[in-house]
This record gives sequence, C-alpha cells and structure tokens, in this order.
Amino acid sequence: MSVTVYIPREATALSLGAQSVARAVTEEAARRSLTVRVVRTGSRGAFWLEPLLEVQTAAGRIAYGPVQATDVPGLFGADFLAGGQHSLRLGPIESIPYLNNQERLTCGRLGVIDPLSLDDYRAHGGYEGLKAALPMEPAAIVKAVTDSGLRGRGGAAFPTGIKWKTVHDAPGSQKYIVCNADEGDSGTFSDRLLMEGDPFCLIEGMTIAGIAVGATKGFLYIRSEYPHAIEVFGRALKIARDENMLGSGVAGSAYDFDIEIRVGAGAYVCGEETALLDSLEGKRGQVRAKPPLPAHNGAFGQPTVVNNVISLASVPVILADGADAYRDVGFGRSRGTMPIQLAGNVKYRGLFETGFGLTLGEIVDDIGGGTASGRPVRAVQVGGPLGAYFPRSYFDTPFDYEAFAAKNGLIGHAGVTVFDDTVDMARMARFAMEFCSIESCGKCTPCRIGSTRGVEVIDKIVRGERRAENLKLLEELCETMRFGSLCALGGFVPFPVTSALTHFPEDFGGAPIAAAAE
Ligand SMILES: Cc1cc2nc3c(=O)[nH]c(=O)nc-3n(C[C@H](O)[C@H](O)[C@H](O)COP(=O)(O)O)c2cc1C
Ligand code: SF4
Repeated sequence: MSVTVYIPREATALSLGAQSVARAVTEEAARRSLTVRVVRTGSRGAFWLEPLLEVQTAAGRIAYGPVQATDVPGLFGADFLAGGQHSLRLGPIESIPYLNNQERLTCGRLGVIDPLSLDDYRAHGGYEGLKAALPMEPAAIVKAVTDSGLRGRGGAAFPTGIKWKTVHDAPGSQKYIVCNADEGDSGTFSDRLLMEGDPFCLIEGMTIAGIAVGATKGFLYIRSEYPHAIEVFGRALKIARDENMLGSGVAGSAYDFDIEIRVGAGAYVCGEETALLDSLEGKRGQVRAKPPLPAHNGAFGQPTVVNNVISLASVPVILADGADAYRDVGFGRSRGTMPIQLAGNVKYRGLFETGFGLTLGEIVDDIGGGTASGRPVRAVQVGGPLGAYFPRSYFDTPFDYEAFAAKNGLIGHAGVTVFDDTVDMARMARFAMEFCSIESCGKCTPCRIGSTRGVEVIDKIVRGERRAENLKLLEELCETMRFGSLCALGGFVPFPVTSALTHFPEDFGGAPIAAAAE
C-alpha cells in the first residue's frame, strides 16, 4: 500500500533543507521496500516549523517538523508513515494553533495541494470562481468585486472594483491585466508563497479580471529574485494552456485570455505601478506622472488593470462564495482577510491570514509570540520600508487601513517587522533615508536629492552637531519630501523617519521635534 507524504518545495523550506528531506524520504523508503508517494507542496507559511513534513493517515494529515534529512531514518523507525510517535511529531495539522486560528480565504490551499496539479486545485475549490463568472455579464463581475469591498493589497488599498470599472468603461480594442508581483517591501512574502503554492489561483483571478474588463492579455511582472515562483508559475501557465484554461476560448467559453511572464531586475521603485509599466515595456523603470492613470493609458498606452498578486488571488473566492461572504469578514472599511506576514525579530515567523481588526498587540505578542530573542518588543514597522515605527503604546491599534492612517502609519502589503529593545532607532531612521537614496528613480528632486541630504542631517543630529538646527532642517526636509515627491517612495519615507523621532527621541540624543509629535 502506498502512503502519501507531503513536503514543501517552497523557497523558505528549500533554504532550510526540504530538498534533502524529500530525497532522504525517497531513499529510506526504497531501502525499506516501502511504497511512498512524495507530493511536493507549497508552504503553509509557519516558517519556524519548516521543513514541515505531513503524512496522510486514516486519521488525516499528521505533521512533523522541523525535519532535517538526518531525522528521516528515525522517523521511519518510529513508523511515522502511520502517524507514529516521535519527538518531531506535531500531531494532526489542524491541531497546530498558528494554522488553526487563521481564516484562510485567499491562501487556503497553500501547503495543502500539489501546486502543479489541476485536479488537486479543482478538488479544493479551484476554478469555482471562474465557473460562477462565466455566465455573468462582465459588468456584473465588476460589481461583485466592488460589492465585496476588496481593496488593493499591494499597498495603496484602492478599491479593486472601482479600478476594474474604469478599465471596463474605457474605450480601447486591446486592454491588459498586469499582475504586480514585484513584492519589494521588506519582510513580505505572501505574493511569493501564493505563486509558489497555488499558482492556478492567481491564473484564475487574472482570467476573471480579463473577462470582467475586456482584456485578452495578462502580464505577470515578477522580480528576478523569485526564481522558484517564476518556475512554478511558468509551468502552471503551460498546464493551464494545455488544459484549455488559458488561450482562445477559455474553458470552452467565448473569452480569450492568456498570460505572459515578464521578469524585472529587482528595483524597489519598479513595484510602483507606472515604473513597473515602463520596465515591463522594456524601458528603464521610472515613475510616470499621473494622470493619465494606467486604467486609461497603461501598458503600451492601453487601458490596463494593475493589481497586486493577493488582490487578484482573492477574486476567485469572491466569485465562488459571493461578495457578501467576503464582505462579512473584516473591520470598518477594511473588508475581507489579509495575509499578514510576520518577520524580523519575532518568534513565530510566517504568514497569518485573518480578517482585519486584530490589534497590533495581538498580532505581535499572541500570534507572533513576541521576539525571537526573548527580549522585550520595542518597535514594530508595519507596511515595509515606508511604514511607520509603532511603539508598544500603539499596540491597541486595530489592523485596519483607516486606524493605521489615523496614527500616521500604513498597512501597505501587511508586512509586520518586529524589533527588540536592542534596536537603535536613529540607525533605522537613517536606513530609511539611505534606502530611499539608493532606490530613488531620480525623477523628482525632493526624493533624489532629499534622501541623500536626509542621511547627512541624521548623521549630524546623532553626532550632536548643531542639534536643534539640524532637527529643524530634518523636519523641513521631511515635509518637502512628503508633499513635493512625485510618488510614495519619496513621499512616504518621512513616516519611518518622523515616527522614529517621535516615539524614540532618546536614540537621537534628545526630545522629539515639534512637528513630528502628534
Ligand atoms: C515605491 C513603491 C513601490 C511599490 N511596490 C509595490 C509592490 O512591490 N507590489 C505591489 O503590488 N504594489 C506596489 N506598489 C503599489 C503599486 O503602485 C500599485 O498601487 C499596486 O500595484 C496596485 O495594485 P492593488 O490595487 O491590487 O494593490 C508600490 C508603490 C510604490 C510607490
Ligand atoms: S519620489 Fe523618488 S522614486 Fe518617486 S518619482 Fe520621485 S524620484 Fe522617483
């Protein structure tokens, strides 16, 4: 009798030895003349348990982890194929609280299915969204997405349905769907996990988007640092084409839709939608002034939807279960779920998808388990390199776009990066400016020049050089960058800088500047 063992082939698990574990399981089974079917999955996103191995038993999937290749003979010795006792046994996969406490509307298949099996995808609800969408009028699909309350998960939180309606209504014989898979924010990886673990979900979401707005062509713009995602997604595209789920007459319908992968070189600014479009067209990635919006004049001058991976991957479940079911989850104007990514100095690193509304404290202390170092949490940066640093006194802030904005913060792509009490916040403020100076596309002066001046001024403040004057200068510089920059790279970098100054003035050797205080 054959036993099925599931082992991730996702990049984090691979970096922790998943490939050797898979090889060791196959070799040990052969040595013992046992028939084992190894299925390579994506990751469920509980990184501290990777490589996480699961075995299919009569009692469901039993988990073991983190497993190293050297553990494998012992696991066979403990009869793990029947769910046997072993020091690495975690029990039924559903009994792991970190996984069980999530509400996975978008990422439910991660780590569960074989990412490259259409049968597996369909057996777990795949293509139900497209099935529901095909008989609908395109405008009704757009309305369903609007009604769901879905807002862009890439950072700006713009209502997805409204963007789609603009493209739907725009005149043009050729329209495009561009999926933004640049995922440049520090501490974020949900796009990558989704593409590696459930690529058909993104293909389905892009296909529905294409049908809804009248686009026959989609592009996945992905950074070159994601080789595994590029490979898995490319293979999934071929399978989908072979099975008539892409190409002319998608799934036997009258709609044509296909997707091409474009690999970027990995500049942070190429995640900004207009710089992305330049890069996608083969030019140097530089921000374009808006208007015109990409929805009117996007890729190759045509009406274009630019959406983040998670935004598009949330569409199938919205169509399959209905807009109301999605909208019923969430908090305030932040509807649905968000795949939160816990990173930095945190005990339980990984992906945690949940409805909006948990407090930051619940996310960091309860779900994340506090710091990995065991020291007190001092600061948390939410929303990538342009996000504000929040102190513990802000831990009652609900995870909600408006609540974070009200405290001069942002949720962005939902990266939550934790720092313990050894962090030097002046260094972090300097880093924000330095990052901006390196990644600036150079189009506008406040960002191109201001970020370099920002590094210099922070250095002077920390050295105690004419401190009061330089604090004032930094304040004015931040204001100029905030209101004078063409895009959010230069425009938002003041947030980490001023939040560090406001909440952690002692690291700068004195009291906060007035304008930074709330
Ligand atoms: C500097 C900068 C970097 C960005 N990087 C990304 C990124 O890596 N991924 C992403 O989806 N959106 C990124 N965005 C936001 C995009 O410009 C755009 O709002 C988004 O792709 C729209 O998709 P959504 O509505 O589904 O979020 C970035 C914006 C800026 C200003
Ligand atoms: S703010 Fe920076 S990245 Fe954005 S357009 Fe200006 S120079 Fe380019």
